[in-house]
Amino acid sequence: MCDRPLSIMVTGATGGIGKAYAHELARRGLNVVLLSRSLSKLEEEAREIADFTKGLEIYDDIEAGLQGLEIGVLVNNVGMAYGGGGVNFQKVLDSENVGQNILDIINCNLMSVTQMTRLILPQMVNRGRGVIINMSSVAGYRSFPFHTLYSATKAFVQCFSESVSAEYSAQGVTIQSCLLRFLLPKWLSHSRWAVRFLAKQREARLSSSLRPVTSKSK
Ligand SMILES: NC(=O)c1ccc[n+]([C@@H]2O[C@H](COP(=O)([O-])OP(=O)(O)OC[C@H]3O[C@@H](n4cnc5c(N)ncnc54)[C@H](OP(=O)(O)O)[C@@H]3O)[C@@H](O)[C@H]2O)c1
Repeated sequence: MCDRPLSIMVTGATGGIGKAYAHELARRGLNVVLLSRSLSKLEEEAREIADFTKGLEIYDDIEAGLQGLEIGVLVNNVGMAYGGGGVNFQKVLDSENVGQNILDIINCNLMSVTQMTRLILPQMVNRGRGVIINMSSVAGYRSFPFHTLYSATKAFVQCFSESVSAEYSAQGVTIQSCLLRFLLPKWLSHSRWAVRFLAKQREARLSSSLRPVTSKSK
């Protein structure tokens, strides 16, 4: 066991839930490393840049950027539905560029979680402690027609988290997936009603999901 304060890494942290997580963790005095794609939005904070719709090629750079960083908590937050930030209900083959769309969603929602786990889990195992939080969704809990790719990738996140948790919990690593319901997505943030109504719920849920993180990361 080491007593040094560890860093917390959040993917997709310039907006929405990832940003809320990062701010809440920083407010609690933890050292937060953000990993997202928009350099301009990341410039004010500790950061790494990566577009998670890309494939294996981005992870060598991420791994290089991680040298010397001791990550105690990894929040695999980044995720997308059809149409990037917005919510479009459509049949699985109805996108304009369906092949690319399938690849983007699988890379962003599924590849990011597995590859980031591959990069960070070994140091947690060596240290005998660590927490990984994967953002799933109630949409991944059962089939969700017209949101097929999103829901299928979130089911993967759920199943992956449970299985890896069973494999590594005895080595001191806690892996949990958050079955989020509708919180406050970026595309609804212009609505004053949504901001008022949903922001309070989001804060309460984030705070309760962070209890195991803050107790195990110090
Ligand atoms: N919001 C909900 O109601 C809800 C419900 C259930 C589950 N979830 C899950 O919770 C997580 C966060 O959701 P959210 O609504 O907060 O998302 P969001 O508002 O769309 O924000 C996502 C964050 O990820 C970044 N991002 C998006 N695509 C990226 C990419 N290809 N590469 C790198 N960064 C990227 C965005 O950066 P930019 O600023 O550059 O766009 C932003 O910082 C997702 O996994 C989502 O599936 C959300």
